[in-house]
Parts: sequence; structure tokens; C-alpha cells
Amino acid sequence: MSFDIKTKLRDGLQADHPDVGWDFSRNQDLIELQFGEMQEDISKKIIKAIKNASQKVHIYTDLLQEFTRTISRHKNIPEENLVIVNATDKAFRLLAETFINPGDECLMFPPTYPAIKPSINIFQGNIIELGMQSDFKLPATEEIVKHVSKNTKLIYIANPSTPTGNLVTTRQQIIELLQLNVIVIVDECYFEVAKVSMFDLVAEFPNLVIIRSLSKTYGLAGLRMGYMIAHPELASILRFIEYSLEPVPSVTSLAGAIAAIKDEKHLNRNLKRHKKAKKKLIKGFRKLGLIAYDSDTTSLLVDTQHINVNADEFVNRLRELGVVVKTCHIYGNAQPGWVNFGIPKLEQTSLVIQKVKTLIDNAMILTENGLLKAKTTSNSGF
Ligand SMILES: Cc1ncc(COP(=O)(O)O)c(C=O)c1O
Repeated sequence: MSFDIKTKLRDGLQADHPDVGWDFSRNQDLIELQFGEMQEDISKKIIKAIKNASQKVHIYTDLLQEFTRTISRHKNIPEENLVIVNATDKAFRLLAETFINPGDECLMFPPTYPAIKPSINIFQGNIIELGMQSDFKLPATEEIVKHVSKNTKLIYIANPSTPTGNLVTTRQQIIELLQLNVIVIVDECYFEVAKVSMFDLVAEFPNLVIIRSLSKTYGLAGLRMGYMIAHPELASILRFIEYSLEPVPSVTSLAGAIAAIKDEKHLNRNLKRHKKAKKKLIKGFRKLGLIAYDSDTTSLLVDTQHINVNADEFVNRLRELGVVVKTCHIYGNAQPGWVNFGIPKLEQTSLVIQKVKTLIDNAMILTENGLLKAKTTSNSGF
């Protein structure tokens, strides 16, 4: 039957739709650091809770309330402020579903985490990008105000942000932005590492939304669990939209997430080891002549410009040596030498530094042989 499905799509969706999606293909023989995941051990309590929950997959779950209560108790957030979601990605989609009419704008500050863009685009909103300052901080509020119009609906700020790894704004600036008659979204995915939050401001500001995730700091990227914090009025609207159907997270995800939040001892153990590994990695990279920025996230930004190897070459060469990292093109406004490194498990840190040293040594040898004159004149790599 001939049927042009595109004639039935919502306005703005008639263009071609190539398959999209992140490349999550894996190779267990390599040290995979491209997604900034927590590499430390998973708590036995989490595994046990997921196993137990798997006995109950035949019934609809009542664990949503328990997860909400657990977050409330452990994070000291009233239940009325909480909205449980399938990690940050789902929070983005929910916010777009809730707020974006065609032509509405979402303001963001590259380089930054870009995953809100597809949700805005699907609801025919527009992304307005205003670059970070050279110190990776948000532009001054006066500058931001110039880009806020009657169409501006959302301002998205990852704090701390990726790939730069730093806290990009202050409490004072968030308060200034909240006066602008827009919704301000603060992505606190790395809260347990950065230990800075604006969540208490939701009591005063009905237009503030905080997003948190268990993907990185709790090492549960595969469970897809997170939560939003908002003023009770907005939180109830978000819950109404999100929970209109049977609560979204699966019984196994909820059970694992409850166990993770309760197991503070394990979280602290992992965060301590992770911090040690990050410190060692930064020190090791700096010794090798790389610029390695301090980080309040679970990955770090490395600039290879001083060794005259561009990011694509660096990533390809390092993969050949058994370590997978990524360039920073997806984040916008990336420098040619920017590479994003997840933090390896503490025991693997020396090995990763050693692999990077080998990469750099190889580049040097090639140059000394006169094979690669470009090394001293441009960023063209090997
Ligand atoms: C700023 C930021 N927010 C959120 C996430 C994680 O998203 P999710 O919770 O969907 O796994 C990341 C992951 O890289 C991130 O860098």
C-alpha cells in the first residue's frame, strides 16, 4: 500500500529522519573511558536488590513511592518537590513536553552537555547558543539578558558542566537569571562530586528546576534513574505529565536505585577512590606536558595542543593503544586539542598514563625522524 506517513506527522517533523542515537558499542578488551562512567565496583547490595526485584517483574511496581521517600530522607528534600524520571535524558524530554511551543527558545552555553537539544527540536523549539567565557564561566548576566527575548522559555545550565568539568555559575547569578521570567534548568548530574547545589532555591522560585542523575556518581548509567527538584506547584505539574501512565521506571531500576541511595558507605568509598584516581591522572598528564583541567565531574578535559597533536589523532592513536576516550566536538565551541577522559578505576590509572606517554613518545620519535614536519608548525597531528 502506498501511504506517505510524513503527511501525518506533526508540523516540523516532515524532514528526513536519519537513524540517530549515540554510539554505545563496546569492546571489553579496551579500557573504555569515553562516557565518563564510574569505573569502581558496583555495590553488592545493589546487585542483590536488582536480583530480588527480578522476582517481581510480573506485577506493576509500587516502588516509586519508596524511591521518592528514600531520596527525600537521604538528600533532605521534601517529597512534594520531587519528580522521579529515567535519568537526565527523560528529564529533558519531560521539560520540552511541558514547556516548548513551536518557536520557543532554549538558551544554552557551549561548550556544554548537548543532550537537551533533540527534545527541544522535536517540539519545534529553537536552541540559542551563547558561548562560555574563556575561563569556562557563564557570560555575565547583563550579556545573557541581551539574548533573552519574549520567545525565551528555558535557560539550561549544567553546573558543573561537561566537558570542561568546572562549576560555571554562582548562586547569585542563578538568582539573577530567575528574575527573567523564564524557566531556569540547573543540571546537577555530578552533585555528589561537586557538592554544590541550588536546590534550596526552589522554595522561593517557582521557575527553577534542578535535575539530578544516578548515572555517574552512583555508577548506575545502565539503570537510567534520576530525579528532578522543583517548587511544589511545578513538581506536581511535572508528575502529572510524567506519571499519567504507569510510573515509568522499571521495578529493577527502582530497586537498584533505592539500594544505591541507601548504601552511603559504598558511595563514599567509590567517590574517594574516584577522587584519588582523578588526582593521579591529572598529575600524570601534566607531567607529560598535557594541559589537564581540574574537574568537579567524573571526567576531565585534556588539551593536547602543547604536544601538537589534534584531538582526533590523539583519540585514534590512544584507541590503538587500548584506551578509548573522545573528542569534544559534540559539546560545541571545542578547541582542536580537546579530549574528554573518563576516570579509570584506581588500579588502572598508572596504565592509562603509561599509554598516553607511549602515544606522546611515538609522536616525538616520528617528528625527530623528520617524517612529520607538521608537528612543530601546526596542529595537524602525527
Ligand atoms: C552535564 C550532564 N548531565 C547529565 C548527564 C547524564 O545523563 P543521564 O542522567 O541521562 O545518564 C551527563 C553525562 O555525561 C552530563 O555530562
